[in-house]
Amino acid sequence: MINVAIDGPVGAGKSTIARECAKRIGFIYVDTGALYRTVGLFCKRNDIEISTDNAENIEKAITEGLKLEIRLENGTQLVFMNGENVSSEIRLPEMSMAASAVSAIPCVRRFLLETQRKVARENNVIMDGRDIGTVILPDAEVKIFLTAKPEIRAKRRYDELVAKGLDVKFEDVLSDLNTRDYNDSHRAEAPLKQADDAILLDTSEYDFEQSVEAVIRLIEKRQ
Ligand code: DC
Repeated sequence: MINVAIDGPVGAGKSTIARECAKRIGFIYVDTGALYRTVGLFCKRNDIEISTDNAENIEKAITEGLKLEIRLENGTQLVFMNGENVSSEIRLPEMSMAASAVSAIPCVRRFLLETQRKVARENNVIMDGRDIGTVILPDAEVKIFLTAKPEIRAKRRYDELVAKGLDVKFEDVLSDLNTRDYNDSHRAEAPLKQADDAILLDTSEYDFEQSVEAVIRLIEKRQ
């Protein structure tokens, strides 16, 4: 199996770029952020406080009460929480912060590790996240660290949310993005960082098509 790991900060375009590349080269796209979002949603729905101090209760609640499944439908990844399709709900902006908070809790990362490795063992995948090249798939054939300037990433994220009909302010999107980047790269457990053997790709000056082509070139060169 060929595994492509794409990591990078919020709004670098990882998911849209990875999804399109996977479609073009016939790989399966796996969005691992969706898994952390689902754990965040599970905690919110069950009134479980998301903090490291509450890690024991979180671990008990998820191991006993959360069945999380990735299903692929026409190349689209859907996430099911105890049989319920939560793929849209986990995309709401308030779920982003919950996901970032649960992702700092070691038992949550352990809980999601095998789900991610299993799909990569069984399929040619492009998997995106924060620790795919460093922790989840350290032997991935291709590792890319995708980034862009913060203002550009915030503008892309803002446009995406507005296109979905959400009423958001650019300043809020930018500050949310900076907070999440800080949390994601400063947590003790599997922080966001470029793997030593990952290729850095800055898409600040690229449009979508150029970014997709650059990633495909890197995959073709390395595999
Ligand atoms: O990629 P995203 O915005 O959907 O991710 C939501 C949060 O989940 C993000 O702030 C950090 C966390 N995350 C992580 O810690 N590790 C991953 N592999 C993917 C996401």
